[in-house]
Amino acid sequence: MAQANEQRIALAGETDLDGFRTTARRLASDGVEPGQVSWQVASTAEGELFEPTAASMPSSDASAMRVPRFFAELCERVLLHRDPSRFGLMYRLLWRLMQVPALRDDPLDADRMQAEAMARSVRRDLHKMTAFVRFRPLAATAGDDGLGPLHVAWFEPQHHIVEAVAPFFARRFAQMRWAILTPERCVRWDGARLAFSAGAARHEAPPADAGEALWLTYYEHIFNPARLKLAMMQKEMPRRYWTNLPEAVLIQPLANAAALRGTQMIERGGSTLLRRRPLAAIASAISADRLDAAPMQADGSFASLEALANGAGRCRDCPIGALATQAVPGEGPIGARLMLVGEQPGDQEDLHGRPFVGPAGALLDRAIAQLGWRREHLYLTNAVKHFKFELRGKRRIHKTAAQREAAACLQWLEREIEIVRPGALVALGATAARALLGREVGVLRERGCWHVRDDGLRVLVTLHPSALLRMPDAQRDAAWSDWLADLALASADAAPGSTAL
Ligand code: URA
Repeated sequence: MAQANEQRIALAGETDLDGFRTTARRLASDGVEPGQVSWQVASTAEGELFEPTAASMPSSDASAMRVPRFFAELCERVLLHRDPSRFGLMYRLLWRLMQVPALRDDPLDADRMQAEAMARSVRRDLHKMTAFVRFRPLAATAGDDGLGPLHVAWFEPQHHIVEAVAPFFARRFAQMRWAILTPERCVRWDGARLAFSAGAARHEAPPADAGEALWLTYYEHIFNPARLKLAMMQKEMPRRYWTNLPEAVLIQPLANAAALRGTQMIERGGSTLLRRRPLAAIASAISADRLDAAPMQADGSFASLEALANGAGRCRDCPIGALATQAVPGEGPIGARLMLVGEQPGDQEDLHGRPFVGPAGALLDRAIAQLGWRREHLYLTNAVKHFKFELRGKRRIHKTAAQREAAACLQWLEREIEIVRPGALVALGATAARALLGREVGVLRERGCWHVRDDGLRVLVTLHPSALLRMPDAQRDAAWSDWLADLALASADAAPGSTAL
């Protein structure tokens, strides 16, 4: 039953935050009590006769109303909750804040606590969506824009979060065409723009493909029975998400076998086999067919660095790619006399899509200047093309890529060398040295001299600039001079027109 004086507000959609804000401010400044307002969303309003009213309300001095920052932030999240009472709750909270300003300092107020709990649930849902969306390529949809096939994912969020989370996927998968289908809202990225549409059905998303089989093999390999904590795993990855996760089919069987495998691992003792295997052997064992992901020429080479960068951007031969913002391709002139190879992009490189633009890059730039080289004459790249990190609070902390991950990336580095055809290579640190020389390299033992690869290319091994950054102050000056001395060996190769040794 509608109350006398009831004001019916129809918002334009479930996530009409602007409509809510404008209307709530206006209602509050017009003195309309929370009990007099009934909130609805236009598409669900009775008989569809209910046109959105939020934007068409007469204006007053509501725009001058100021709300506490915590309330504005809470609104952003709570209004994405699927509970239809959320609008009423937030309007009541706003109203009470206006009447009793002391409420700002009362975090134990029942309305505030309810709103905080709803905001937490939305935040958790946002986080889970960023972690558990799994794209599958639609083979027949490759365009000629270099972005490859359309990748489609199916996901069932708990709350109305698709619009809020879409920019995250646009940043992270900027170089890929993708769509995320959900029961209520779908979003599509064409490489430049996000487009939203109505919900879809699960069967509209593609089934498993060959790439997924590879991922399952990989998951099985990296699953460590000695580290299994099932309760913790389910807390992080609740069972209701399992239906959309390809790897979920493996969890129970692997968990069942974990105790036995753990015992076998202990009995077998430490393994050194993988360490000693040349990277190239691991790389071909992981995947011979992954190179199909990027357009190749008839002779098996890549047409351009751009095609190569697109291929690396889409590569999911190991899990790092799915978590990084983007692949970071190398940069510099084709035919550069010197190619400097680092380990992997860091946080800044991952965000900017360029190598050596963070703190390690600043140190490298100083060395380049001191040696009288020019950065634009060099080709700078990394052994691993995606940033691997661990989240600590909000910080992304660099994690060294595992051998298997570096091995999966070797295909991109070797193709890059084929295209750039540098005069010589400089390996900055152990990961780069191992990738370039195909064997374990003791950097401290083998630094400061040239090594020759099977293809005849010379490789100068030296420290990674981050190693200098991590050194105690007392050692840094000497380490800096030694590092410059190592690099100086490549001076004859560093500039166009110079004579290589
Ligand atoms: N460290 C690297 O190895 N490469 C970069 O591009 C940046 C930091």
